[in-house]
Amino acid sequence: MKFDTPAGQNPIDQLKVVGRATDRIDGKYKTTGTAPYAYERHDVVPNQAYGYVLGAAIPKGRVRAIHVEAAKAAPGVLAVVTTLETPRLERGTMNAAYLFGGDAIQHYHQAIAVVVAETFEQARAAAFLVRVDYAAEAGRFDLAAEAGAAKPVPGDSGEGSGGDGIERVGDFEGAFAAAPVTLDATYTTADESHAMMEPHATVAAWEGDTLTLWTSNQMIGWGHGSIAKILGIPKEKVRLDSPYVGGGFGGKLFVRADAVLAALGAKASGRPVKVALTRPLIANNTTHRPATIQRVRIGATQDGQITAIAHESTSGNLADGSPETAVNQTKLLYAGANRLTAMKLAHLDLPEGNAMRAPGEAPGLMVLEVAMDEMAEKLRLDPVEFRIRNDTQTDPKTPGRRFSQRDLVGCLRLGADKFGWSRRNPTPGQARDGSWLVGMGMAAAFRNNLVMKSGARVRLDDRGTVTVETDMTDIGTGSYTIIAQTAAEMMGVTLDRVVVRLGDSAFPVSAGSGGQFGGNSATSGVYAACVKLREAVAQRLGINSVDAVFAEGEVRSGNRAVPLGEAAAQGPLSAEDTITFAGLDKTYQQSTFGAHFVEVGVDVDTAEVRVRRMLAVCAAGRILNPKSARSQVIGGMTMGTGAALMEELAVDTRRGFFANHDLAGYEVPVHADIPHQEVIFLDEVDPVSSPMKAKGVGELGICGVGAAVANAVYNATGVRVRDYPITLDKLL
Ligand code: MOS
Repeated sequence: MKFDTPAGQNPIDQLKVVGRATDRIDGKYKTTGTAPYAYERHDVVPNQAYGYVLGAAIPKGRVRAIHVEAAKAAPGVLAVVTTLETPRLERGTMNAAYLFGGDAIQHYHQAIAVVVAETFEQARAAAFLVRVDYAAEAGRFDLAAEAGAAKPVPGDSGEGSGGDGIERVGDFEGAFAAAPVTLDATYTTADESHAMMEPHATVAAWEGDTLTLWTSNQMIGWGHGSIAKILGIPKEKVRLDSPYVGGGFGGKLFVRADAVLAALGAKASGRPVKVALTRPLIANNTTHRPATIQRVRIGATQDGQITAIAHESTSGNLADGSPETAVNQTKLLYAGANRLTAMKLAHLDLPEGNAMRAPGEAPGLMVLEVAMDEMAEKLRLDPVEFRIRNDTQTDPKTPGRRFSQRDLVGCLRLGADKFGWSRRNPTPGQARDGSWLVGMGMAAAFRNNLVMKSGARVRLDDRGTVTVETDMTDIGTGSYTIIAQTAAEMMGVTLDRVVVRLGDSAFPVSAGSGGQFGGNSATSGVYAACVKLREAVAQRLGINSVDAVFAEGEVRSGNRAVPLGEAAAQGPLSAEDTITFAGLDKTYQQSTFGAHFVEVGVDVDTAEVRVRRMLAVCAAGRILNPKSARSQVIGGMTMGTGAALMEELAVDTRRGFFANHDLAGYEVPVHADIPHQEVIFLDEVDPVSSPMKAKGVGELGICGVGAAVANAVYNATGVRVRDYPITLDKLL
């Protein structure tokens, strides 16, 4: 089904199942430990052995020799595969780093060997017997030191984008020079690590030349192609299965060393092999959110109209890596006739920087929304009012292009009202509660709404059960549930008549879980397949499909009412379709909006920061399941609080690695750090986003929330910290 025009009425709009707060159908399996994660797939294939991955101990250079004799002779060892005996393997989709093969070391803890043994302990013990000779080379590890040599990155909109990588609208420099009120400030955000509960893990088994990987991956379609490319085997000979994923956040968008080395270890040992990346390897072997240096300039009239806005960001990465797109929201969030955005990329020999929840917007809004707070203060304007005054209903860089829906102002006003914003003292450092300095802060939230082609297959059996199969993943987001809700609504059955099967590359290729596009796109694919199944049912029953009503387990037409299962009495009916969205983005800018409000207390003696209250108001189209959507938003708010206050990979700039590579040294918020969080969704239906009329919401919650925390800390203390996270040493 090609979807590129505004959606009229359709069966989803009945909202008998869709749009209702529904418990996650996988919730009981996950919370009782009966949902098998990749490393626990003990029963899928017998005789599994264990692989232990060895990472390089240098950040850059060459491996001269790997001495494996002692390891091979150790108890239980079945095989050792080293990078030197393996040709450099191709890279998978969207990755800059090579995962294995050859002698070149691009970054610390790049995989250089896998040891396979009967038990995990034997594999680990033997791995410590491997000796490696390196030829180390000098590397570049310090973003601040390399920023001067950073290269411009061409912008993504051709218009106004010169070879210098700067995107311009109007005359920024002229307007900024002429503006009566201006801000010019530079901020930094830290490298952040993925810290999902389930590490990257894979069980690999060969049957002849056919490879099956039971793995933990967000994007089965990409992973399927990547494994074939990396290992140089046809796609038809590869199967990936990833039904349960214990968190992804962008770190599992890609095939990583666990999958590749499980496959190589299995081939070498002649046994199925399971590999999990240890916590230290997640920090330095996989991908992370890159640090940024960002400069924001804003010029405004005395009454707070922005006339000039510029946002420039520098980040670092490996040679073929991408920049952190931290300026993207600044192209779209506020009005202003004169604009400039630019990104620069420095070469760093650190582990690969890549996607982490709301890549771009999360660190970008951390900065832009603090700059907006600083500017509001200069203008003596309430920060909510300043944002409302600079709302735009059209894309500021593309004349005439409207947002499909945009109610940022509604989010700001409702949030201010519900949070009690009027009680905030605009003068910092005035509010006290015992030994706590108390402050309130707010920020706008913005995240793009991408749509991706997505396929599904649906089958009806004679008991009226509807089975959905798609390679969509559920990374803790609630995909199982919203897909079941969609199929139930379309086929007129209750949720318990729907079976959802996900994450298998044998199923139709879906959007996958990424960029907050999965929920809207994957349910739209299921919608498309259900439209076809409804037609097949009507045809089988001799009913005109246009008149057919699917409700309460029946198909009704005129005065006829047939139990749905009867259509499959002669055998199951099945239908498959893929929804595509070609052209939609060209007509409308699609984005999601929100407003964050935060109250903090800062201990007047120790500068300890405690978050006391948080509220998010979100406008993200139709909310398919308010319960799982709320969980996504509070998860984002928690993660953004981490970015504001504690998350920071410590770069050892001499040895070239992330030193705090475990959950003792890399701090993330825990329950005691987070108060009760409130989330309000505006009652909104996006008329053009998809047949579901929904948008993404999984990343919106993290966007802007860190700035709201930082602005609250400023309001509490009067100390403006521009280097994040705001650890207490920066407040003393
Ligand atoms: Mo998301 S960072 O695209 O999983």
